[in-house]
Amino acid sequence: MTRIINFSGSFDMEEARNNILCGDCLSVMKAMPDKCIDIIITSPPYNLLNSTGNGLKLNTHTGKWRNAAIKEGYNQYNDNMPYHEYVTWQKQCVAEMVRIIKDDGAIFYNNKNRVQNGLIQDRGEIVRDFPLRQIITWKRRGAINFNPGYFLPTTEQIYLICRKPFKLAKGANRYTDVWEIAQEMRNPHPAPFPEELIDRIVQSVTGQVILDPFCGSGTTAVSAQKFGRDFIMIEQSMKYCRLAEARINNQEDWRNV
Ligand SMILES: C[S@@+](CC[C@H](N)C(=O)[O-])C[C@H]1O[C@@H](n2cnc3c(N)ncnc32)[C@H](O)[C@@H]1O
Repeated sequence: MTRIINFSGSFDMEEARNNILCGDCLSVMKAMPDKCIDIIITSPPYNLLNSTGNGLKLNTHTGKWRNAAIKEGYNQYNDNMPYHEYVTWQKQCVAEMVRIIKDDGAIFYNNKNRVQNGLIQDRGEIVRDFPLRQIITWKRRGAINFNPGYFLPTTEQIYLICRKPFKLAKGANRYTDVWEIAQEMRNPHPAPFPEELIDRIVQSVTGQVILDPFCGSGTTAVSAQKFGRDFIMIEQSMKYCRLAEARINNQEDWRNV
């Protein structure tokens, strides 16, 4: 059974294996030894609450975001940082991820470009100082940011960051670098991965231990389990730790915990 462990300041690999660490992922990763993880699959908060256009804002009451109780869950961290602060924070997170993956490991880091004050914020800025090998385009179906100044964005980026020894699982390169996968609609978390997306990544790699430092509802763990891998989840919000725990443990009513 997967359980929630409150992060106490020190990291124990065997204790963390197949469990959820509740705490700040930067602090947890800093406590982890070098090169102890095979694969990282993750999606941080996108810093969406400071939108200048028709995107999300605090107190926005539209569709999924209202249902997801944006103020309840997503205000546990600051999702409206000044842009440079956000980039600095995310660079620190990616630097830790690069340090803790093995030489033949890989990071699949999902983020999304956006337009602010009429100019693109290219999230490639976060990853460009790291060993970036490929940018996979994830094409979603539909989007929510309607703005007359630019075409409706329907894609996100998945940055594959790895050192030279990393290789995909046999045959996985057939997936190409554009993945059309619908977004998840039946998950109470405000920004979940679709399971199909993570299934594809897990099937594309051979590593055994998979980390998601921004666990949310635990989709990475669910996929890891499906394909016989181990996982370590980190999540700051106790609300989402409980959601992920119930989901990973196959609790029938996990959507309502
Ligand atoms: C985009 S969501 C991840 C959703 C996840 N991929 C899923 O499938 O449900 C980002 C998550 O990161 C969590 N988070 C934000 N800041 C964090 C931090 N400093 N440390 C750990 N988790 C954090 C949020 O609470 C949120 O659940």
